Amino acid sequence: MSKYHVSLTRVMDDSYDIEIGRDLFDTLLHDLKNGLLENVSKFAVITDTKVQEYYGDPFIRKLSSSGFICDLFAVPAGEKSKNRASKAWLEDQLLSKAYGRDSCIIALGGGMVSDLAGFIASTFCRGIPYLTYSTTLLSAADASVGGKTAVNTPVATNLIGTFYQPRKVYIDLNTWTSLPIREFRSGLAETIKHACMQDYEFFVYLEQNMNRILTADRLILDASVCEHLALKNCEIKYGVVEKDEKESNLRQILNLGHTAGRAIETLSNYELLHGEAIAIGLVIQARLANKLGYLHEQEVNRITQLLALAGFNLNIPHSITPKELIDKMYTDKKVRSGKIRFVFQSGIGKVKQFDDGSFSVPVEEQIIYEILDEMIRMS
Ligand SMILES: NC(=O)c1ccc[n+]([C@@H]2O[C@H](COP(=O)([O-])OP(=O)(O)OC[C@H]3O[C@@H](n4cnc5c(N)ncnc54)[C@H](O)[C@@H]3O)[C@@H](O)[C@H]2O)c1
Repeated sequence: MSKYHVSLTRVMDDSYDIEIGRDLFDTLLHDLKNGLLENVSKFAVITDTKVQEYYGDPFIRKLSSSGFICDLFAVPAGEKSKNRASKAWLEDQLLSKAYGRDSCIIALGGGMVSDLAGFIASTFCRGIPYLTYSTTLLSAADASVGGKTAVNTPVATNLIGTFYQPRKVYIDLNTWTSLPIREFRSGLAETIKHACMQDYEFFVYLEQNMNRILTADRLILDASVCEHLALKNCEIKYGVVEKDEKESNLRQILNLGHTAGRAIETLSNYELLHGEAIAIGLVIQARLANKLGYLHEQEVNRITQLLALAGFNLNIPHSITPKELIDKMYTDKKVRSGKIRFVFQSGIGKVKQFDDGSFSVPVEEQIIYEILDEMIRMS
């Protein structure tokens, strides 16, 4: 018998820039012309049909008139396209057009597109570079930052995927103007989550400036406020991801509001957008935190008021019973040893770290039941 040791120590620098601004197509072209990517000769722009309508054609025209070989591939808009079949279809399209190792993928769109396109980039020819051109607040706040890529399966969302960092991210604030208000508000939930978990001053800023962002039925999108939102979201999410890229502990805090929120999203049959469900999840988390002695009632009220100011309906949908909701929480990725776990705030701008060092803690069903029952009776 003989043995050969394969020594492969990995030293990697996956650092990249996030450019925040307006009409960034020209900035992207400038970067490509000035050597952002080496040895790339073809660009596959992956988008969805709705984003294609607004931005696809001008983008492709600019790329090709600047001498870049490129094609645009669009999947139907909506979360349903984030699946294995779309991934396979897009890969076949790329192969049939002779895309290879010398190619780059550009994800043009929101989080659905960047998750799918990033996953393809990570496996196509064993990994090719990709750029993200983000067109939603949710993607600016969350999906485009952190390098998680994935598709959904009928059994679970986001569990088939990779950690794979883009080479650069462009956050185009002008694209937010064409977003439907519900989609924009959905991104605002993740923004408020960031403030709740890490940044008291940002929370106060949101309290004071919500009227410069949107009203009940109209987007206002004040330029300086939008820029501040984008920058703060990146700063806060990065602060976490930089310390725990692979979600071994600290990154769990990004799940604030998600134990109940995701369960509500699924039980609403996706009638509620992700952020709309997370907003309710944040309130459930705050009320539970108060019951367990981590958060003052006054703080719970401020969190609830800020979410209401952003226009969220914070009632648990009547079609969902506490029992159903609790049963669904058992499918949450944080469940350990058969116990539902929550991440909790310990103040505004702070999350609780528990004695074992973890940022999540098991919570007894009965306590969750009481809070849910109380919320449903009050709605
Ligand atoms: N990778 C991560 O870390 C991470 C984090 C959070 C969320 N996500 C994923 O992100 C996705 C949700 O993100 P999303 O809300 O951006 O979804 P999305 O990409 O589906 O966009 C939402 C809708 O808005 C449309 N749209 C996008 N940009 C537009 C624009 N500028 N103008 C008009 N319409 C536009 C899209 O066509 C779509 O119908 C989910 O798949 C979620 O799992 C990933």
